[in-house]
Amino acid sequence: MRSGRESGKPADGGWSSRVALTVNGVGHDLTLDNRTTLLDAVREQLGLTGSKKGCDHGQCGSCTVLLDGRRVKSCLILAVTLDGRKVTTVEGLAGPDELSPLQAAFVAHDAFQCGYCTPGQLCSARGMLDEVARDWPSAVADDLTAPVELTDAEVRERMSGNLCRCAAYPNIVTAIRAAAASR
Ligand code: FES
Ligand code: FES
Repeated sequence: MRSGRESGKPADGGWSSRVALTVNGVGHDLTLDNRTTLLDAVREQLGLTGSKKGCDHGQCGSCTVLLDGRRVKSCLILAVTLDGRKVTTVEGLAGPDELSPLQAAFVAHDAFQCGYCTPGQLCSARGMLDEVARDWPSAVADDLTAPVELTDAEVRERMSGNLCRCAAYPNIVTAIRAAAASR
């Protein structure tokens, strides 16, 4: 939604830019300081505080969101570079009335403890399952051209960019495999 103004262009003497973002299916026309990360834009400008700031250095994964369906660490991306792009945060994973199967599996398998990392884990898992569905190989693949079998090793490798200080890892693996099996 661009409201008739030119997005992706500098505003305010060059310190800020206009950017049109679709977040969880809703269009937003924002004027942002050029230094604003995608994480800060969704949390501070849009009030979507599900995405968490853990390290702010791309190391923990708690800020993971989906950008045009691919998982990214939103603390590493400047929002003004994303004009016209589609972002999905954890708030956008569920339907209006119920949790997504992946979210339900996290609940059913007790895959979170304090829950701080959980929004990033969920977004990363969503993106990872789509990568598996496309048979994209990972670092633990023996055969780069073979269909992917979602073993525990595959889940752990593909989720290795998401840290959990509570070490809920075993249940996260179980939940992701359960969600994959129910697709
Ligand atoms: S806050 Fe982005 S990776 Fe840690
Ligand atoms: S559930 Fe607490 S940091 Fe992961």
